This record gives sequence, structure tokens and C-alpha cells, in this order.
Amino acid sequence: MAMSTGAGPQIFILREGTTREEGRGARKNNIAAARAIADAVRSTLGPRGMDKLLVDSMGDVTITNDGVTILKKVDVEHPAAKMMVEVAKAQDQECGDGTTTAVILAGELLANAEALIERKVHPTVIVAGYRQAAEKAYEILAKRAEKVSIDDQEILLKIAKTSMGSKSVSAHKGLLADLAYRAVKAVAERRETGWTVSDDDIQMVKKPGGDMSDSALIEGVIVDKERVHPGMPLRVENARIALLNAALEVKKTEVSAEIRIRDPAQMQAFLNEEANVLKTYVDAVKDAGASVVFCQKGIDDLAQHYLAKEGIYAVRRVKESDMKKLQKATGARLANKIKELTSADLGDAKEVYERKIGEDKMTFVTGCKNPRSVSILIRGGTEHVVDEMERSLEDALSVVAVAVEDGRYLTGGGSAEMELAQGLKEVAPAGKTTVGVDPLAGKNSEMKRMGILEPLRVLKQAVASATDAAVMILRIDDVIASKSPKTGPGMGKGAGAEESSHEFD
Ligand SMILES: Nc1ncnc2c1ncn2[C@@H]1O[C@H](COP(=O)(O)OP(=O)(O)OP(=O)(O)O)[C@@H](O)[C@H]1O
Ligand SMILES: [Mg+2]
Repeated sequence: MAMSTGAGPQIFILREGTTREEGRGARKNNIAAARAIADAVRSTLGPRGMDKLLVDSMGDVTITNDGVTILKKVDVEHPAAKMMVEVAKAQDQECGDGTTTAVILAGELLANAEALIERKVHPTVIVAGYRQAAEKAYEILAKRAEKVSIDDQEILLKIAKTSMGSKSVSAHKGLLADLAYRAVKAVAERRETGWTVSDDDIQMVKKPGGDMSDSALIEGVIVDKERVHPGMPLRVENARIALLNAALEVKKTEVSAEIRIRDPAQMQAFLNEEANVLKTYVDAVKDAGASVVFCQKGIDDLAQHYLAKEGIYAVRRVKESDMKKLQKATGARLANKIKELTSADLGDAKEVYERKIGEDKMTFVTGCKNPRSVSILIRGGTEHVVDEMERSLEDALSVVAVAVEDGRYLTGGGSAEMELAQGLKEVAPAGKTTVGVDPLAGKNSEMKRMGILEPLRVLKQAVASATDAAVMILRIDDVIASKSPKTGPGMGKGAGAEESSHEFD
């Protein structure tokens, strides 16, 4: 690639195959690609929103209404389109909801900018205007928002239900909102600066089968494993819990060795030795005072038998993430060497028991030392159903958490957005509108009466990230793309990318 220097000879400064696109063409393509992303999620917005069925390159199917999930799953290549995906991700990280709103808003800001550019308004002027408008929008929203506290159950339940209004789980939103509220309330922590909710404290365990209404909140940790031996107790009260990161097995040698046994007594001695080692392991567990063992590795059959004889409840091959949750919930320390286990390493829980959920047996650890640790057991028809339930519950948990943390909420259904539009134009009187769109009834309704409420942070963040993305895209007037090894020169296959890109040589 070369750049012309006017009269002199051509100077090559970029690698061959690099494409470059400047000025209006570049901007137009970027806007088109970004708007194509907004159009892709537009139909999922609100209570009349539809779902998308996505099939990935491995043939795995996802059915969802969640903006960020859709955008994360589609393979976007155009750089401006990628920025729009980032908008959704930023929104998801900050609020866990409003991802579709943020992306559509960014798309509209760009559409509007395009019209202004057509009318010869310089992009920097538009950018400055958008920045000002965003600041004003925060003011209007802050003034409009109403207070909510962690004990305002009624309002928080409505906020949770509103976030699920557009999801396929909507029919069960009452039950799910209740789970979300109780979970947040259990884990919320009061600090000097106010309430904080850490979503790490809320575990979600999916089990396809049963009915959505079988979903439940458990105060504690659920481990999707059964006890290893039927002779072990089904339930242990006032459990002292050992967490082991070592196998209750006799180590196999790394080199292959041959031991020649010449008489039966020798054979017996050999087997006894193995049994003795396992016995010392189990004794170590017992001597430390443990009545429950979660082992990240395997447990030998004979060790299982010894544990059962001691009345110890044991689970093997527990996932590392579950071990972490158990550490946090029960206060136990992970032991790497069985023989070094002491009573100080053990954690506590009121009850550890096995329960059959659907076809499988699971271990429940409840009444933990740290009460800020809860699990939601998600049940529902099929795997796709429980997956979407999990995503919807994540939205519901986030909006309740965000509303509790900020203590502020708005009315939904587009009512706050309409007031923004009016306030920014400064044409309408500053009267507060809580009338929004009720797509289900096909008319405008009073959103407060309908209980359509949302945390302040969702819309504020949507304005912030949409403005940032629109500004970033509008400021670009030059796209220089190096040759990709797979697709050859160009900027990928985003909408409109090919339209007017030209190659230099
Ligand atoms: N029953 C309802 N009547 C009117 N508007 C509603 C109702 N339920 C929800 N809404 C509105 O729907 C919008 C949210 O729709 P949706 O949940 O599909 O998108 P999102 O929150 O922007 O993105 P996502 O949930 O995919 O991250 C909000 O403006 C909300 O106020
Ligand atoms: Mg939503």
C-alpha cells in the first residue's frame, strides 16, 4: 500500500494488502454496521419482544431474549459492530439488564447523527452536543428517580418482575422475582458507603426436569453430587466439614514395577498394607473431628467403606468452583495433605443432607457459618428452558441488587425515556411523566400503577454507554485495516463494509 505525496514518487508505508477508507465513506460504513447490530436486537425489546434462536458453529442451540447473550454469540467482525457488542457487555457488567435498550439507543444516536451529517453538521459538533445531552440526561433522571430501600419488598418485587416481563419465563415471574428478592436480601451487606451485593454469593444450580415452580431458594450451598456409599448417613446435623484436595486413594507408582509374590501370606501382607494406608487416611479425617468430607479427588472403595463405618458423609470429585463456595460458606480451609488435617481446618454447617432432585441425587449444605451464601435451584422442562431461566434470573437478581445498592428507581415502559426526550428538547413543560407504552394492551398507561419499575442505574448506564459508543464511532474518519490471514484484505463482513471500501496500490 502506498500513499501519494503529491508530486514526488509514491512512498510505501503500509504492508501490501492493507485497505484504507477515509472520510465520509468510512463514517457511513461504520454507522451502517453499528446500526445493523441495533436492528438485530430491536425485535427482542420489551414485553412484546420475541426470542432469537442461535446456532453456533458446533451446532449448539441457544434460545434467548437477552440482548447481550445474542450479541456475544453472533460472530461479529466489523470493528464498528464490535463496538456495539462492547456497549452491551458494558451495560451487562454495570447493571445486568438493559443491554437491548443500550444498543438500540446507540443505534438511534448514530441514525440521528447521520441525518445531521447529511445536513453538513460537523461530527465534532454532534459529538459535543451528545456529550452535553448525556450530562443533562443524568440530571433529569436523577431528579426523577424515587427512593427505595432494601425493605421495600413490594417495589423491589415489581422491579424484578419488570426485568422478566419480556422473557419467556414471564408466566412464572412472580415466583422468580420472589426468589431473586429473597436471595439479594440474604446476601446484601451493609457497609459504610451503603449496601453492596456480591453476586458471587448467589449460586445457581440448574437441573432440567420438573416444573419451573419447583425452583427454590436454599440458604447454603448445593453440590451436584451424591454421597459415595449407601452405608453413609443420609443427613448429618451440626456438620464439621473437611475439604480435601487430595485423593483418599493409594498412589499408583509412576514407573511400572513388578513385585513377585511367592506365597499367599505375602499376598495378604501386601493387601493389608494398602488397606492400612487407607485406614490411616480415614483415621486422620476422623481424628480431626470431621463428620462430612468433600474431596476434590477420588475416594477408593475401601476408604469409602471405612468412612461409612465411621458414620462420615463423603462426596468425591467435587468441582473446584464448588470447593471455593464451600470454603466461603462453611469457613473450612482446603487441605492438601490428608494427614495434616486438623480441627482448625474444618468448617461448619447446621445440616448436610442428600436429596433426590429429578433423577439425580444432590448434596445440600445448609445453615452455614456464613449466612451470606445462598443457592437457587432452577427447575424447568428442558435444558434450553433452564438456561433461559438462569439468564432471566440473573437479570432479576441484578436489577434488585442495583436498586438496593443505589436506592433509586424509575418508572419503565419508555416513560423515563420520553421524559428525557422532552426534557432535552426543552419544549415541553417539566411535568413528570410516568405514562409509558403498554404494548400488551396496545395503549399508553400509567407505569407506576402497572408496577413497571426499573433501577435508575439501568437507564443512566444505557445513556452513558450508548453515548460513548456513538461518540467513538462518529469521531472516526479513517479506517486502516491490515490484511487478515483468513479473509484477505478488508474490514470483515459487517454490513456495508464492502460498499465503498477501496484498495490503494
Ligand atoms: N409490562 C410492561 N409494559 C410496558 N413496558 C414494559 C413492561 N415490561 C417491561 N417493560 C419495558 O421493557 C423494556 C425492557 O425490555 P427488555 O428486557 O427486553 O430489554 P433490555 O432490558 O433493554 O435488555 P435485556 O433484558 O435483553 O438486557 C424496559 O423499557 C421496560 O420498562
Ligand atoms: Mg431487560
